[in-house]
Amino acid sequence: MKVGIDAIAFSTSKYFLDLNALAVNRNVDPKKYHVGIGQRKMSIFPPNEDIVTVAIDAAQKALSSIGDLASIDMLIFATESSFDLSKSTGIYVHHFLGLREDCRVFDIKQACYSATAALRLAQSYVSENPSSKVLVIGSDIVRYSIGTPGEPTQGGGAVAFIVAQNPRIIEIENCAGVHTNNVMDFWRPNYLDEAIFDGKLSAYSYLKSLDISVNRYFEKTKQSPADIDHVCFHTPFCKLTRKANNQLFRKNSIEDTLIYNSLIGNSCSASLYICFISLLDNIKENLARKKIGFFSYGAGSVSEFFSGIISKNYTKSDFGASILNDRKEISFQEYETLYTSKSPIFHLYENIGKIKLSKIENHKRIYIL
Ligand code: HMG
Repeated sequence: MKVGIDAIAFSTSKYFLDLNALAVNRNVDPKKYHVGIGQRKMSIFPPNEDIVTVAIDAAQKALSSIGDLASIDMLIFATESSFDLSKSTGIYVHHFLGLREDCRVFDIKQACYSATAALRLAQSYVSENPSSKVLVIGSDIVRYSIGTPGEPTQGGGAVAFIVAQNPRIIEIENCAGVHTNNVMDFWRPNYLDEAIFDGKLSAYSYLKSLDISVNRYFEKTKQSPADIDHVCFHTPFCKLTRKANNQLFRKNSIEDTLIYNSLIGNSCSASLYICFISLLDNIKENLARKKIGFFSYGAGSVSEFFSGIISKNYTKSDFGASILNDRKEISFQEYETLYTSKSPIFHLYENIGKIKLSKIENHKRIYIL
């Protein structure tokens, strides 16, 4: 039975900071961010938006192409930027989407790898239960301390996809090259809002993990890079992805996969799948039956290289990219205020979709329509 992604969409904040403004205010040559790191803008989330509201927007778009919500009996929410150590973030999403009450809901975590872990779990579940559909969400907001080298590589967004049999977009193949390695390259202790990182070690670990995972995949499949038509990578910043591609898949152009990421920044669990959407949206070629490679990396670290075959009847649809044409630029001063404010004003900003965070009261997050 073929199992894979039947519908997919993404969302991000309505607000962005242009990296030119960041460079000027940090006394850095803007070319370092544009060329050296490969990023142009980064999404900035105002107080009324969080990983739940952006996830709901992405999920509503993905679900609009499937008529029957009752077929979804599992929701897996992948995130590394959760605000709660106990209650699953997915439960808020389940509530606002109106999914059936006997739907299993849980969060899953392994840094940016988590949505891939969710995809693999969903794939096995649907193989065992062919009439079921699983909603997978990857949603993250990436924050580093201001003024650190990580600052231009912040960002955020959500992806939502439905895993089902006979998928309309891509069948996910079973074979994978996986690599797990205990490394302190990026982590966020429970008591911190911002992640800690060792930038050089993290880039080294990413590229080393790529090498091991990809070679393992090709050993198992007896294939070679020439068998892969296009590759999508987890993209913490575009320059690293270009290096990754040059390392192993030189013949393939990956520029179509990077367009959205260069405007959003790192969206962690969503990033690999936003690169996939960027490919679907921007490539001129007909992708039907093409083989796509995926490199997923989650700091700490777990990586996986796997593949999928685009469905033979695949046709383009609306994956949510119009949000990128409808964003507002915020100034550097506003960015710093938003970042450091201890008493945020929830109602000052436009919301992404139908649901917004209106306040936090008695340690409860109150979402309203
Ligand atoms: P840095 O130390 O500020 O930058 O940090 P640099 O000095 O290494 O410069 C970066 C590049 O810009 C260099 O090119 C420079 O030559 C170039 P490279 O050697 O890489 O080819 N450069 C210029 N180019 C043109 N004109 C100029 C100029 N000046 C310099 N004027 C770093 C950069 C990315 C390390 C930092 O931003 C960082 O630490 N970011 C956060 C960590 C990160 O994103 N790591 C990625 C791998 S880990 C991962 O993917 C997991 C993650 O997504 C989290 C998760 O899994 O949950 C992060």
